[in-house]
Amino acid sequence: MNSDENYWKDRYDTGRTGWDIGSISTPLKAYFDQLKDRSLRILIPGAGNAYEARYLWENGFKNVFILDIVQDVITSFIQDNPSFPSDQAIHEDFFQHEGQYDLIIEQTFFCSFPPLKNTRAAYAKKMSQLLGQNGQLVGLWFTFPLTGDMEKRPFGGTQEEYLSYFEAHFSSCHMEPCYNSIPPRQGNELWGRFRK
Ligand SMILES: C[S@@+](CC[C@H](N)C(=O)[O-])C[C@H]1O[C@@H](n2cnc3c(N)ncnc32)[C@H](O)[C@@H]1O
Repeated sequence: MNSDENYWKDRYDTGRTGWDIGSISTPLKAYFDQLKDRSLRILIPGAGNAYEARYLWENGFKNVFILDIVQDVITSFIQDNPSFPSDQAIHEDFFQHEGQYDLIIEQTFFCSFPPLKNTRAAYAKKMSQLLGQNGQLVGLWFTFPLTGDMEKRPFGGTQEEYLSYFEAHFSSCHMEPCYNSIPPRQGNELWGRFRK
């Protein structure tokens, strides 16, 4: 087990999971509800308890994949969702993952990495590599300012900073204040859509 896996496993083991809202978030639910093509290959990296994957699966999206660096969350997702194919629940480091998807979903994954320029740039590059032609990365990014504290998650940032990473790898980049965040995140989230 590497140190990142240890860190996140410990967070789950000790119940320090303040990011876990216990259900699908309202912006992602609204986004999924307007998707027509249920054959899309969808990846949710850093999925945690993966409420979004459960929602998609139960609504007929059969090519949904979850990925997390912690084995236990993958195992409990499979236990709680026995009809979900176990080969679509992947225990792996995102940066080692190989695959090709039409849609990748971001929710409180980006903000979990130390806010270093090279890590953030590597995230944008890896996302682009995992998407097929015209594939999209869609989801939520926090907008509160970085404090310089390199331990206290979630880490924020600005729209301008985020776009500087994505513009190098995506042909179309769009971010706007999220209008339908869950109440505790209201005013602190950007909705983003990046097309390869
Ligand atoms: C802040 S939590 C968010 C979980 C989930 N997206 C949610 O909103 O409830 C970050 C998640 O990313 C996972 N993670 C962190 N680094 C990872 C990596 N390099 N590869 C895959 N998963 C990773 C952690 O185990 C954790 O489940």
